[in-house]
Amino acid sequence: MNNLKKDFPILENKNIAYLDSGATTQKPKQVIEAIKKFYETSNANPHRGAYGLSIEATEIYESTRTKIAKFINAKHREEIIFSKNATESLNLIAYSYGMNNLKKDDEVVISIMEHHSNLVPWQKVTKVTNSKLKYMYINENYELSDEEIENKITDRTKIVGITHISNVLGTINNVKKIIEYAHKKGAIVIVDASQSIPHMKIDVQDLDADFLVFSGHKMLAPLGVGVLYGKKELLEKMTPFIMGGDMIEYVYEQDTTFAELPNKFEAGTQNVEGVVGLGAAIDYIESIGYDKIQEIEKEVVSYAKQELSKLDYLTLYMTSNEDKHSSVISFNINGVHPHDVASILDSVGVCVRSGNHCAQPLMRFLGIDSTCRASFYLYNTKEDVDSLVNGLNKAYEMFKKYIKNKCQ
Ligand code: ALA
Repeated sequence: MNNLKKDFPILENKNIAYLDSGATTQKPKQVIEAIKKFYETSNANPHRGAYGLSIEATEIYESTRTKIAKFINAKHREEIIFSKNATESLNLIAYSYGMNNLKKDDEVVISIMEHHSNLVPWQKVTKVTNSKLKYMYINENYELSDEEIENKITDRTKIVGITHISNVLGTINNVKKIIEYAHKKGAIVIVDASQSIPHMKIDVQDLDADFLVFSGHKMLAPLGVGVLYGKKELLEKMTPFIMGGDMIEYVYEQDTTFAELPNKFEAGTQNVEGVVGLGAAIDYIESIGYDKIQEIEKEVVSYAKQELSKLDYLTLYMTSNEDKHSSVISFNINGVHPHDVASILDSVGVCVRSGNHCAQPLMRFLGIDSTCRASFYLYNTKEDVDSLVNGLNKAYEMFKKYIKNKCQ
């Protein structure tokens, strides 16, 4: 058995094969304990008290910002902004940067793989600014081709939004290449790293990303904390998105001057326990190391692909290019609704997500309504894959007579 499972109390307490880490990961005891310790020894509101406990809370909060900056190799610690999740980070960019920098006939280019959070805000912003929203479509191997990238990103493009890894297909996009090309055309690039940062090293300087966002809860940290990375020179020129306490310098009856980075973008009392948990999650990931994480995942995901490919009643939605595929496998039992399949899997203790995965335009593009999705992480084992396969066989046995009827 994968010995990391023992670090995750919920996996000890429940007899399940948890295959929904793309939605949220389970939390190791190191993260749970760090949060408990914070409340037992250091809880106060950071930045708001002159007394020792508040200063201690401020130090914990701010040292985590420094830790995250190092973790993703940001040049400046104030380039790290805490948010609620990747969705809030993306909305901040859309409203603070997009709304103020796009003009009529400018173009925003995103991929058809985007999660609604990197799509719906751009619909809104392009409508208000009279700019255009364009899509890069995937080829028959569920990948973005170089031709498609070069056809869609042009001199008119001002913003490119791209997911590093598709939450539905598991396709790994070559964001470095997209960024390089977009920069040549004068566009800035926003990378949604929500599905990649749990699995691979992110280096924002090496990528030369202008903005990069992720959620803590998909990388072992608590729900409700996220990160926005932005290049300092861009963040400095942007106006705040949410107004309130601690993001100001001076407030007069009719006017306000705003705080410096990063506080300018952190209005109101923050999710400090989330930040503490995120710091502990990073420590945990670093203690295992991305090499080891990838080794575990490769073994389990390759086994899953091998076993699922044997099921002739199943359609898999993923690239055949091993190097471009991450730890997400979407599938359908032909003729059976994914919610029914997920319910049968649940009855045998297998947790998968079913539905459109917040990617309706992608589903429409693929000509389907929904899929089941198994997503893997460092605590998964080959036994979890076996449970998935057994559950799928059970579902197929239960539904096959209806599938036949439907086809007659
Ligand atoms: N965005 C998350 C997912 O793909 C919730 O499941």
